[in-house]
Amino acid sequence: MKVLSDDTVGTLAIGDFQVRRLGFGAMRVSGARNSEGVRDRATAQALVRRVVELGVNFIDTADIYGYGQSEEIIGETLAPYAKDLLIATKAGFEPRKMLPGEVSLPPMGNPDHIRRQCDLSLQRLRTDVLDLYQIHTPDPTVPWEETVGAFVELQDAGKVRHLGVSNVSIEQLRIAQSMCTVVSVQNKYNAGERRSDALLEHCESEGLAFLPWQPVMVGDGARAVVDELALKYGASPAQIALAWILRRSPQMLPIPGTSDVTHLEDNVAAAWVELSDEDFTRISESS
Ligand SMILES: NC(=O)c1ccc[n+]([C@@H]2O[C@H](COP(=O)([O-])OP(=O)(O)OC[C@H]3O[C@@H](n4cnc5c(N)ncnc54)[C@H](OP(=O)(O)O)[C@@H]3O)[C@@H](O)[C@H]2O)c1
Repeated sequence: MKVLSDDTVGTLAIGDFQVRRLGFGAMRVSGARNSEGVRDRATAQALVRRVVELGVNFIDTADIYGYGQSEEIIGETLAPYAKDLLIATKAGFEPRKMLPGEVSLPPMGNPDHIRRQCDLSLQRLRTDVLDLYQIHTPDPTVPWEETVGAFVELQDAGKVRHLGVSNVSIEQLRIAQSMCTVVSVQNKYNAGERRSDALLEHCESEGLAFLPWQPVMVGDGARAVVDELALKYGASPAQIALAWILRRSPQMLPIPGTSDVTHLEDNVAAAWVELSDEDFTRISESS
């Protein structure tokens, strides 16, 4: 199994970190199952350990993933952290289990909540400072400036090194940028989900990292072309989806997520899949 190096997919500056452009999304790690098909902690820890063994040095998590378990598993497996490893986390949704029928948790961006969640994330990740703290989503019931202000205060207090935003419009990003240095934007983006194209352009012109979430589960429009090219390249559809994203922009740092170590290895190996100009264009024009 090949291991990512700085040259494989290049690196990206995120604040004072320089990270490889293929990361890992840890939303599903607490769902890792052992060979008997049973969820267990040791398997989840082994998965996270494998992430860094494969040369990945950007991991994305959040306070709500696995109801805190994702951060805990990362903390108990990887802390104290290697200097070049960036652990990004987030707050901004109500931290509870989803009810049957719910598709998303309600946003929760009030400053008291954000302050509490920051302390919990520090504890679970076993660190004194969060490398990258992202506003998970704007809360329509709280003025955006108030939520951003809470994150800025945490940075001023030394609990947070860098600030990022997620699920934002260009206007919301501009407001946040007027209040602090934003280093990254995390929105849903893949070959079949291009609603953030203009935001990506803004990130390119401002030198911000763009962290596309859901990079593997390609939307309907592009799915058929991705599947067809997977056969042509002898690659998995996930690898074609990631190869397209990596080529889409030098500011892109996809964070594919999995609870399965074979899928993790498959995703990292996407770094070596090179699309021809023609096939890159075909995917680009398919959605
Ligand atoms: N900011 C936000 O609001 C937000 C929202 C959602 C996610 N995220 C972040 O983005 C990351 C990725 O998003 P995501 O997990 O929703 O979408 P994704 O990475 O596009 O896809 C994950 C899904 O694809 C499967 N998968 C992954 N790699 C595969 C492979 N090589 N072959 C076959 N199936 C594969 C996974 O199942 P298996 O577990 O079986 O592999 C899972 O069902 C998350 O971990 C999280 O860090 C952020």
